[in-house]
Amino acid sequence: MTTNRKQSCSIYFIVAALMLLVFLLSSPGGKTCAAADKSSVPKDSCTATECHDKMVKEKYVHGPVATGECSACHKSAKSMFKQKHSFEKIQNTGKLCAECHERLDTQKFVHAPVKEGKCFSCHDSHQSPNKFQLRAAGAELCFKCHDRSIIKRKFVHGPVAVGSCTTCHAVHQGDFPKLLRASANAVCFECHTDKAEAFKKKKFAHAPVRKSCMQCHNPHSGEFKYNFIADGSQDLCFTCHKDKQMNISTATVKHKGLVTEKKCLACHDPHFSDYVKQLTMQPADLCMSCHDKAFSSAAGKVANMKEMLSENTVHHGPIKQKDCSGCHNTHGSKNFRMLRENFPPVFYSGYDPENYKLCYMCHEKTLASDEKTTKVTAFRNGDKNLHFIHVNKSVKGRTCRACHDAHATNNPRHIRNSVPFNTWNLPVGFEKTENGGQCLPGCHKMYIYDRKQAAKNI
Ligand code: HEC
Ligand code: HEC
Ligand code: HEC
Ligand code: HEC
Ligand code: HEC
Ligand code: HEC
Ligand code: HEC
Ligand code: HEC
Ligand code: HEC
Ligand code: HEC
Ligand code: HEC
Ligand code: HEC
Ligand code: HEC
Repeated sequence: MTTNRKQSCSIYFIVAALMLLVFLLSSPGGKTCAAADKSSVPKDSCTATECHDKMVKEKYVHGPVATGECSACHKSAKSMFKQKHSFEKIQNTGKLCAECHERLDTQKFVHAPVKEGKCFSCHDSHQSPNKFQLRAAGAELCFKCHDRSIIKRKFVHGPVAVGSCTTCHAVHQGDFPKLLRASANAVCFECHTDKAEAFKKKKFAHAPVRKSCMQCHNPHSGEFKYNFIADGSQDLCFTCHKDKQMNISTATVKHKGLVTEKKCLACHDPHFSDYVKQLTMQPADLCMSCHDKAFSSAAGKVANMKEMLSENTVHHGPIKQKDCSGCHNTHGSKNFRMLRENFPPVFYSGYDPENYKLCYMCHEKTLASDEKTTKVTAFRNGDKNLHFIHVNKSVKGRTCRACHDAHATNNPRHIRNSVPFNTWNLPVGFEKTENGGQCLPGCHKMYIYDRKQAAKNI
């Protein structure tokens, strides 16, 4: 490592080179050497003269430069025609640096300039005002080659805003794509520990969250809040849920619950949930979080469901199972009251099983189709099917609502106390008996039915 380039310098160079050698041997790969000490520059080294004295002026001077060890990198030119103060061109910087530093192209993903051995594109070989002799500090270094537009959007991610690119990216090489310091989500979890916790603890994680946070968030900056790739409360969802967008836009009976300020997020958690379908609460509780009051608008009135269900204690099967979606399509539908299937909004209707598809999703379709039965329904007098009698008429058949309430009542079999009949609340007057029942509705006088012994109503 010594040179005979300058006789007067050589003794100092030998000393300096030996010091350097000890230095390097005592630290694995030469990587963790102690900070260079400028005072150790030999008095008549190249940097001691005014020719190259500026080479040790900056705050950070490269180890061998600081010790005047120019020859570690600059080999004297051997050519006969050249003067003694001439040096070989440095052909392969990467290889040169690797003589003293550990190789930086051994992992799966190597940063392009490192791969090409262009260490000098980021590090000044001699000195710099920046730590590690970097050619610029923080993100400015990166922007020498990368497009600054990645941080120029309206919202900027915390660590990016402070120029800390290297908290997420390795600069030389790494085992993860995009030079990330860990697999994509693990990088995020390092700081967003609440999300990491939730990922472990909650029952469900939304499919794209499992895949990569970047499916929705730009890691650097974005035009939308939270660096979304589109407005987060709804448009973002529609970038993937095209079918839902279609359902919602074609629904003729629309749910105002979809267009509150939080839009989709009024009901769904975009990341994790303990409830099915990424819901923020138990489904029925969710509905009640808004339907705990009555609404009235130009389109009509909507009853206070919470109050209604607490006042009427005999709850219909699906209500007991807290399954409002069994009958309603929360995202809107083509049917009255956003019902999944047809259900007449009126008191009278000509009989057509199609009208009652909603109830027939779960109940026997032939409920009102046969005049006589001993099986299909308990609403019979002997074998005379009273559902048939009331419902199955070509005109003015009574719809189910004339007697039943779909949610809850205080009577057995969800028979209502009364039913709106134009402006009048028509009483139903039902009483259950051991083998049948009796009714005194606003429609006729008291009639009795008995399944075992057909009652004679005169
Ligand atoms: C760690 C290796 C290394 C050491 C030690 C080193 N140089 Fe260099 N030097 C280079 C490389 C690589 C280049 C060419 C690329 C560049 O500009 O960084 C270079 C370029 C130069 C140049 C021409 C371009 C310029 O930056 O002006 C001069 C002059 C020079 N070095 C002088 C010196 C002197 C004097 C010393 C000792 C005080 C020294 N070098 C020590 C690596 C080194
Ligand atoms: C002759 C051996 C030698 C060569 C060749 C060499 N270095 Fe160094 N490098 C050192 C020594 C010694 C240090 C001092 C370590 C210190 O100051 O802590 C050092 C320090 C550094 C540091 C600062 C490290 C720190 O932890 O502060 C960087 C960056 C660096 N060198 C980059 C390079 C690059 C880039 C090249 C190739 C252009 C190169 N080195 C070539 C010996 C060398
Ligand atoms: C794209 C820019 C870039 C390139 C190219 C680059 N480095 Fe670095 N290097 C850095 C940055 C930035 C740091 C500061 C460390 C950090 O923030 O992780 C650094 C730190 C270092 C260090 C000191 C700390 C450490 O990690 O050991 C050495 C030594 C080093 N680089 C050597 C090299 C060598 C040798 C090459 C060429 C093979 C090279 N660098 C190429 C940007 C670069
Ligand atoms: C000397 C130029 C240069 C500098 C400085 C530089 N890069 Fe790069 N970087 C490149 C090139 C060239 C590529 C390859 C681009 C490509 O493949 O499209 C690249 C690719 C990348 C990639 C993508 C890797 C992949 O697998 O797709 C990341 C991430 C990256 N650089 C981050 C950084 C960061 C962070 C800094 C600052 C610490 C930085 N770069 C500084 C030149 C540079
Ligand atoms: C919070 C972590 C984080 C920070 C901080 C960060 N990045 Fe990234 N960066 C990423 C992730 C994650 C990707 C991969 C994006 C993907 O896969 O879609 C990435 C990708 C890149 C790419 C590859 C091109 C691309 O857009 O896919 C470049 C270049 C890049 N980052 C440069 C930078 C620069 C420069 C900085 C500092 C200004 C920086 N990054 C800060 C996380 C980060
Ligand atoms: C180095 C730590 C760090 C890492 C790593 C990190 N973040 Fe952040 N993130 C922050 C900080 C700090 C904030 C700002 C918090 C605040 O303002 O309350 C933030 C905010 C956010 C926000 C909310 C934006 C806002 O404006 O409040 C989102 C979304 C986010 N990060 C996503 C990510 C994703 C995705 C990743 C992985 C690519 C990630 N973060 C990695 C530190 C980090
Ligand atoms: C399906 C899209 C999507 C994915 C994937 C996603 N997020 Fe989000 N993220 C959102 C939405 C929407 C919000 C806004 C939530 C709100 O306003 O209540 C948000 C908000 C955030 C916030 C800021 C508010 C808060 O909840 O703290 C952070 C931080 C965040 N996300 C981190 C992450 C991380 C980390 C990942 C990956 C594990 C991730 N996100 C994956 C959609 C997503
Ligand atoms: C990057 C694409 C993407 C984005 C953006 C996205 N999702 Fe998803 N979402 C999916 C995928 C993929 C599934 C899984 C579908 C499947 O299993 O059939 C899913 C499933 C769901 C589910 C059903 C979950 C379950 O357990 O069955 C709901 C609810 C949901 N997303 C709501 C949302 C909401 C609300 C948003 C907006 C905040 C959103 N999604 C944004 C891709 C996305
Ligand atoms: C008022 C509450 C509420 C709102 C607001 C809401 N959803 Fe839902 N969403 C639900 C319920 C309840 C389910 C599960 C039962 C069902 O499918 O009706 C669900 C299920 C889903 C599913 C799972 C697939 C499916 O149909 O079963 C997706 C995807 C979905 N919603 C997307 C969205 C999107 C996108 C938005 C915003 C446009 C949104 N939701 C707004 C309550 C809501
Ligand atoms: C974020 C609040 C909110 C949530 C949660 C919510 N709704 Fe609604 N819902 C409304 C509003 C507001 C209306 C409209 C009242 C009006 O017309 O003025 C409405 C109306 C309705 C209507 C009558 C629709 C019509 O126009 O005929 C039904 C049925 C309904 N909601 C069922 C549900 C069900 C089932 C759930 C649970 C899956 C639910 N809602 C959750 C706010 C909500
Ligand atoms: C068995 C089917 C069914 C189930 C389950 C169901 N509904 Fe309904 N819902 C209906 C029918 C039918 C109507 C229309 C009632 C009418 O007009 O008489 C309706 C009407 C409504 C209305 C409008 C109220 C009004 O003023 O007429 C709301 C709000 C409502 N349902 C909310 C809910 C909620 C919340 C749940 C879950 C707790 C739920 N529904 C479960 C069938 C059902
Ligand atoms: C999503 C499935 C579902 C739909 C739709 C449905 N029901 Fe039910 N219904 C049930 C379940 C479950 C029971 C409870 C059966 C039991 O307890 O044995 C029940 C019970 C009943 C009962 C009382 C039976 C008893 O033994 O007390 C009546 C009356 C009834 N439903 C009427 C209707 C009417 C009218 C409709 C249409 C508006 C309807 N149902 C729609 C599931 C449904
Ligand atoms: C005139 C009043 C009335 C009408 C209209 C009516 N029901 Fe009923 N329904 C009853 C009575 C009363 C019972 C109780 C029978 C018993 O258990 O004694 C009953 C019982 C039921 C039951 C429990 C199972 C069974 O059949 O015993 C179901 C389900 C049912 N009705 C569905 C419907 C459907 C669906 C409609 C509309 C197509 C409808 N009902 C129309 C009075 C009516």
